[in-house]
Amino acid sequence: MRLVLETCEVDIWPEETPPPRHDLLQRVRDKDGLLALLTDTVDAAVIDGAPRLRVISNCAVGVDNIDLAAATSRRIPVGNTPDVLTDATADLAFALLLAAARRLVEGVEYVKAGRWKTWNLQLLLGADLADRTLGIVGFGRIGRAVARRAQGFGLRLIYHDPAVAHDPAGSSVSLEALLSKSDFVSLHVPLTAETHHMINDQNLGRMKPTAILINTSRGPVVDHDALYRALKAGRIFAAGLDVTEPEPLGPDSPLLRLDNCIVLPHLGSASQWTREQMALLAAENLIAGLEGRRLPHCVNPEVYDLSR
Ligand code: GLV
Repeated sequence: MRLVLETCEVDIWPEETPPPRHDLLQRVRDKDGLLALLTDTVDAAVIDGAPRLRVISNCAVGVDNIDLAAATSRRIPVGNTPDVLTDATADLAFALLLAAARRLVEGVEYVKAGRWKTWNLQLLLGADLADRTLGIVGFGRIGRAVARRAQGFGLRLIYHDPAVAHDPAGSSVSLEALLSKSDFVSLHVPLTAETHHMINDQNLGRMKPTAILINTSRGPVVDHDALYRALKAGRIFAAGLDVTEPEPLGPDSPLLRLDNCIVLPHLGSASQWTREQMALLAAENLIAGLEGRRLPHCVNPEVYDLSR
């Protein structure tokens, strides 16, 4: 904020919750730059309604909240915040994996409810990691960082990513093979038309009844109704979700009534250092765009190649 305030005149949305669509449309109309959060839908109407707009800086690595085609057609560079959040997000994916495998949340609730009477050989038995198979869907920056952590826990690694043919860190397999062979499945794909509801009834049906699903990517990659059915019927063992559809997930969501589903409020990058670095990158992208310089992290660099 300090950097941005030193550089330009700023109109800051003052509420805790995101600006309603009408306010976003209205307030962006006369602006040169937009610094958005992942909760702001920056679609073609928002972009077309802002004739002066020269830069959109998203304070996130994912840019599914922004209509990239609309921005590119206006030659507006869109910035994001890669790399700085890779380790924090991989840590959280692993925290969810361990928590779901070893039933941490159920254990905490058991103690708090005063149900802990004695040590019991059968109490809250979970899943082992060593010598089991972790399947990573999306083998980019965060998927690979999860793979590095998995090595330390003795997990075998397979991955599915059409963009990565061979990588010594694991074996490349089809999505179908990954789902049927994995004891743990961790999702690290961007949200696109192809990945929307990629984990549906059919694909959940390919997973082992002992398998655990971890999602730290975007909520709509998983069909939540299908996931609920699979968890409820014990067709998979458990799920750990940091992202949901919708966000926020309301307290009435049936997923929250299941013991074998852990839901977090989108905390993947939520460490002190990481959020500071994200904010800094978002400010740098914004200021570069306003000053007519190339954004340090631009997701549509083709805007610089298009002849004017
Ligand atoms: C968080 O979800 C991000 O995309 O940075």
